[in-house]
Amino acid sequence: MRKKIVAGNWKMNLDYTSGIGLFSEIVNMVNDEVMGEQHVIVCPPYVHLGAICQLAKTHNKVSVGAQNCHQAQSGAYTGEVSAPMLQSVGVNYVILGHSERRQYFAENNALLAEKVNSALQHQLSPIFCIGETLDQRNDNSYFDVIKRQLAEGLFHLTESQFANVVLAYEPVWAIGTGLTATPEQAQEIHEFIRNEVRSKYGEGTASDLSILYGGSCNPKNAAELFAKPDIDGGLIGGASLKSRDFVDIIKSFSL
Ligand code: PGA
Repeated sequence: MRKKIVAGNWKMNLDYTSGIGLFSEIVNMVNDEVMGEQHVIVCPPYVHLGAICQLAKTHNKVSVGAQNCHQAQSGAYTGEVSAPMLQSVGVNYVILGHSERRQYFAENNALLAEKVNSALQHQLSPIFCIGETLDQRNDNSYFDVIKRQLAEGLFHLTESQFANVVLAYEPVWAIGTGLTATPEQAQEIHEFIRNEVRSKYGEGTASDLSILYGGSCNPKNAAELFAKPDIDGGLIGGASLKSRDFVDIIKSFSL
């Protein structure tokens, strides 16, 4: 069944003590205030993951994700973290293909396909990010860009593997800029993505897929975005660092 999901991407923010503090605030507020079936995922930096997974064990609505993983299981890759390591501390999700990874760390669709495989082999659900740059939006190539990101990054998966994927549409021009896609612009792409998945895997897989919107999502614009039929929640950057804003976004679904 399709899930309503709000995922927080903390990026490279918050030291250990502040991270544990924010996570504790979020779980307490979710327990007190969130009554629906929404699923919450928090993606802190690697060094916080072990402790946060321990705290999350007792909370059934909040899961923990990593922000990246290496494609290999182990080996001489100084500074990297693998999917089995994440699995061993209790992580359930991993963000892959974020535009910041694509832009600053030269991650391309072929590499991302390998990372997706490694994540799935270790029971991590990828939160796979796709989206166009401002130039690609302006020159109208954005449907092709998104089609290619899906085809090259994910469509090698079998139907049962694909069932574990969460997608996030994040227009690069909206990330951290305060510019949000309008609900209509976002819905247009989400519908396109679901249609692509339908053509590849069929109706059941397409209708079960959760597609999150990301890019300057905040407590003011979340409700209108989440009300669209193909928008199943959000991947939240800046606003996930403030417990009040993040929990208000989680409460923005019309239930
Ligand atoms: P933002 O980031 O909400 O700060 O725009 C979203 C993201 O990068 O996932």
